[in-house]
Amino acid sequence: MTDAAEGEIGAGSRSSSAAVARLTARLAAARRARIIAVANQKGGVGKTTTAVNLATALAAAGRRVLVIDIDPQGNASTGLGIGREARNTGSYDVLTGESELPAATLETAVPRLSLVPATQDLAGAELEMSQREHREFLLSRAIRSRLAAYEDVLIDCPPSLNLLTINALVAADRVLVPLQCEFYALEGLAQLMRTIERVQHGLNPRLELQGVVLTMYDRRNNLCDLVAADVREHFGKKVYDTMIPRNVRISEAPSHGMPVLIYDHRCVGSQAYVQLAAEMLRERRRARA
Ligand SMILES: Nc1ncnc2c1ncn2[C@@H]1O[C@H](COP(=O)(O)OP(=O)(O)OP(=O)(O)O)[C@@H](O)[C@H]1O
Ligand SMILES: [Mg+2]
Repeated sequence: MTDAAEGEIGAGSRSSSAAVARLTARLAAARRARIIAVANQKGGVGKTTTAVNLATALAAAGRRVLVIDIDPQGNASTGLGIGREARNTGSYDVLTGESELPAATLETAVPRLSLVPATQDLAGAELEMSQREHREFLLSRAIRSRLAAYEDVLIDCPPSLNLLTINALVAADRVLVPLQCEFYALEGLAQLMRTIERVQHGLNPRLELQGVVLTMYDRRNNLCDLVAADVREHFGKKVYDTMIPRNVRISEAPSHGMPVLIYDHRCVGSQAYVQLAAEMLRERRRARA
């Protein structure tokens, strides 16, 4: 229980049903999983790599984590060792209401890390969803009350601001934006920020920017430092101190169906994701204090 919550009881409000209801709601919110959409409509910037490896680092830190793969490419599912033949039910079935979340959830080889995989049907989901009522809320409604088993939920989004990504933003509490350290890093970001604002103002007022994480950073490349400085000037404290370096072990790991933390936990790429998870958890503890 938080100090503030104890104080509320200590202040003699135990008998007040309104105070009890408030307290219960606060405790439930503190216990509820935080849902983070990993999004950037730009392709190949490290969304999936970040979702898979941040999830693994959080699970390694003792947290119960769920990854939801809503990208028809299914790279997060592959990267977590769940091959196509093992995917019978997945995020498509959850979105369309054909399956409850637990029935579509698989355990991965990483302790405490579960996955809702992407199945082939997901490729046609956009069109199908677009004909439904409340089409932006399908994911939110399907998962929000069913996450008691988890502390962190990461949704790996496709490289598009389509209905699948909108569903992730509506279901999420936060958006984590991976940005590749390259010349065009900021291009297209204004459109992403406008989409986030639109969702905040209409569909999901709870949504906040969790942060920006710089990926594929190469310290031998001067341009990377210029881009990093530019992004920090633009987003200030929202940019994580941890930068994910360009690291060959990170790019090799998915072909072995493993997060890089399992493939080679000592490499600089793994260590960066451990640091990113630690930074995120520190920030959460500070926010709660
Ligand atoms: N830090 C890194 N160092 C080296 N290679 C990386 C790094 N991060 C990602 N990659 C590689 O870059 C490619 C793109 O990464 P990833 O699939 O994570 O991007 P994405 O944003 O999810 O792509 P998409 O938009 O297609 O979903 C992959 O081959 C991945 O292995
Ligand atoms: Mg991806």
